[in-house]
Amino acid sequence: MNYKNLWVAFLILPLLVFVGKANAQDVYVQNAYARDLISLDGHWNRIIDPYENGYYNHRYLPHEDGYFKNAQVKNKSELLEYNFSTSDKLHVPGDWNTQESQLFLYEGTVWYHKDFSLNKKVGYRYLVHFGAVNYQAIVYVNGVKVGDHEGGFTSFQFDISDKLVNGKNFVVVKVDNRRERNQVPTVNTDWWNYGGITRPVAILELPGTYVADYSVQLDNANSKMINASVTLAGNLKAKHGDLLLSIPELNIKQKMQISADGQAKLTLAASPQLWSPEHPKLYDVEINFNGEVVRDRIGFRTVAVKGENIELNGKSVFLRGISIHEEAPFNGGGRAWSEDDARTLLRWAKDLGCNFVRLAHYPHNETMLKIADEMGLLVWSEIPVYWTVMFEDKAVYAKAEKQLTEMITRDKNRASIILWSVANETPVKQERLNFLSGLINKTRELDGTRLVTAAMDTQTTTKDGKVIDDPLASVVDVIGINSYCGWYYEVPENCASQKWASKYNKPLIMSEVGADALQGKLGDKTERWTEEYQAEVFRQNIAMMENISALRGVSPWILKDFRSPRRSLPDIQDFYNRKGLVSEAGVRKQAWYVLRDYYKKKESSAE
Ligand code: GCU
Repeated sequence: MNYKNLWVAFLILPLLVFVGKANAQDVYVQNAYARDLISLDGHWNRIIDPYENGYYNHRYLPHEDGYFKNAQVKNKSELLEYNFSTSDKLHVPGDWNTQESQLFLYEGTVWYHKDFSLNKKVGYRYLVHFGAVNYQAIVYVNGVKVGDHEGGFTSFQFDISDKLVNGKNFVVVKVDNRRERNQVPTVNTDWWNYGGITRPVAILELPGTYVADYSVQLDNANSKMINASVTLAGNLKAKHGDLLLSIPELNIKQKMQISADGQAKLTLAASPQLWSPEHPKLYDVEINFNGEVVRDRIGFRTVAVKGENIELNGKSVFLRGISIHEEAPFNGGGRAWSEDDARTLLRWAKDLGCNFVRLAHYPHNETMLKIADEMGLLVWSEIPVYWTVMFEDKAVYAKAEKQLTEMITRDKNRASIILWSVANETPVKQERLNFLSGLINKTRELDGTRLVTAAMDTQTTTKDGKVIDDPLASVVDVIGINSYCGWYYEVPENCASQKWASKYNKPLIMSEVGADALQGKLGDKTERWTEEYQAEVFRQNIAMMENISALRGVSPWILKDFRSPRRSLPDIQDFYNRKGLVSEAGVRKQAWYVLRDYYKKKESSAE
């Protein structure tokens, strides 16, 4: 053993680690679409590849020269069995199911390809940012893999600086939306498995040392204090200028001290106008570093649980809500992603008299949260730990925790979000309690300022009515209850008298309640699928909920009829779940007016 080399290794290793850390590129770039960027939205060539022929050879081993090489034929005798440039196209962002009829039910791989030109600025970093890809993505730039991501509803980024050339480049993405038992969600859900690059894609152009992540939030225990933290990334060893935090309307312009690892923290005395649904005040926040300016609009508010109350800015609030799937309000549905989609869906919620939306069952696109901030809607945001994920599998837990971390990292500056939900309708058993307790602890570690909840569908039925005794209820801050009296159990007229008891002294949200109706199908209130039946279920459940003393919110299922492969009843469902208060064509049903009248009463009694 040559001890000299050993000493040299000991000397160099820490430096390598430090340099590695100094160039740490794995810090999420916050507020990506507010950065200098090259948008890759638009038409991409696509190759449908159900046998993954572009990835595996006939021995089922990964190809050296798969479709990601984007090879071109050089002479007329050459064999090449794919060609992006002569392939059809798909629009990005957008699911493939609603763009091509042959892809409506498709579950498998589709390859996406896009050429783009770029001239790199000296010393700059270039990160490719995906708003979301459902479900698995493998990303290649100029034929070289830059990263992969699992999870259909969270943003992700890869540093591609060293893969780019000046002039023409190309990106290829292998997207696979197959459902697998060991995924999050698992194989059975009650929503359409929309595949594709479903949210915007951009190349972020960042200075050699840049503002990556940041949080600027009101102190949850002191509404006269703002806590700010900024994480720099790139070459932290380079010489750089000051880091300034400005909130002009609050006369704040403050220099932040940067530590060696690129962190900066600041606590500021301030008296902002507090954000609320009635007064959704947003402040312009600017982070200036080395000539780079990052702008955001942030609301300042506090949220807490006090006994059975949810307190917003120190005052008890009743959440008049509605559940929403991320499905476009018009144009044949499909994944919603645009500002128009967000404004329409949230406008409908406001028209219903809502101050609250449950964005089910997965993190919605970033625009939805920014518009909720702007319009004054409180938000329940959740990860798709839905029904029967593999609670006993540690790798599945890691996937769930990663999606939770990605959701909170992206949205931690959004005033509208007051609840993080870790699960929906999961079976009562020890592995599930351990799994969800781990996620709840992680949530509180990542963000101690918001409340944690989960939607539960297991209650004990006794002669005195329903008793909430799911052990998960003792771990969350706010209890979510899904209960379909008059649809999945009981007849509607028996619901009003149904009693509920909770032993937890915590706020309770009826996170799902409702019934199906085919819009335009009219009859009497005992006939299933009619608007009258649905309206009667709402009347009866409203009467029931008014008797639940711990009730502090309702988010009935659901704003709009949505696609689901589970719902096949001909001429009634036709692959739609019909529990919407609005049809897929945007037509309101009778139940819409029943709920709206209830919310009008709740709102006036709250004043
Ligand atoms: C469940 C589930 C929803 C589903 C709904 C229904 O509670 O949470 O995702 O769509 O009930 O059965 O319509």
